[in-house]
Amino acid sequence: MDIVNGKTGIAVDCFLECREAVNRKLESLRPFSAAPTLENAFELALFPGGKRLRPIMALACGELFGKRTDALLTVAVAVELLHTASLVFDDLPAMDNADARRGKPTLHKLYTPHLAVLCGHGMVSQALHLPTQSELSDSACRKIIAELSSCIGPHGMAAGQADDLDGTVIDNDYDALLVAEWKTGHLFRAAAYCGAVAGGAPDKAALLLAECGLHLGIAYQIADDLQDHETEDNPRRSVNVALLLGRDGAKQAFHKEISQARKLAGKAAADGAIMDFVEIMESYV
Ligand code: IPE
Ligand code: IPE
Ligand code: MG
Repeated sequence: MDIVNGKTGIAVDCFLECREAVNRKLESLRPFSAAPTLENAFELALFPGGKRLRPIMALACGELFGKRTDALLTVAVAVELLHTASLVFDDLPAMDNADARRGKPTLHKLYTPHLAVLCGHGMVSQALHLPTQSELSDSACRKIIAELSSCIGPHGMAAGQADDLDGTVIDNDYDALLVAEWKTGHLFRAAAYCGAVAGGAPDKAALLLAECGLHLGIAYQIADDLQDHETEDNPRRSVNVALLLGRDGAKQAFHKEISQARKLAGKAAADGAIMDFVEIMESYV
């Protein structure tokens, strides 16, 4: 899915500017590794990269509360590192066994599975270390690291990926949506929450934005499932919302998540940046 392809307007300009800022911040982290082989693997996985949706969400949420700071950008790239690591792992022969990612051969195809595992592992550790090196207050840093580490863990992405690859445990609509929530919703939630906290949001607003991010993430996974279903991509996946709920059911579920996200964004007075984000995403289903 290309979120801004072929579109124009203020929201798109804002997306593109945020994406540039995220890319520049990621570039500033070079060198990524002491080992040249791992350095090359990071480069291949991170650049030119994907849509940068999650770090853009982190920036959008943080900037509701003040100017963009280096600490906010640091948190945004930490989120992108977690996301990119999740894709590197997701593509491995033992997972989806994918040949291509972001328009290029997957990391394990171009190099080796062991280097891909080490690269993903290195990205996760870098993502959790980066906030400690920023100008965040101790309290904000603690909240952010707690959220970043738990969203990919055994109650978040790891749980979703486990159940997704073992579809025998899934027997109803609720479970299918729960897998989408765990594997994708939690990282979107973390992007919104951590961005808001890094931007100085009061607790209540940060939690509202977190819930908004969660619903957007579930919606995004449903949109990806609809696309995979249409193109018969990703054959190893047994939990595809469009397969389990049918095309119309999946579309309904998507719109339900988006409408919940809209309500929450309204409550958090985040109708500006977040609503632009919702609208761009909505146009894909
Ligand atoms: C792909 O995410 C994995 C899903 C959760 C659907 P993206 O579509 O955001 O991937 P990139 O970062 O743009 O490559
Ligand atoms: C996305 O899962 C990976 C994670 C959420 C970690 P999928 O397997 O559904 O996404 P694509 O289609 O490979 O991007
Ligand atoms: Mg996959």
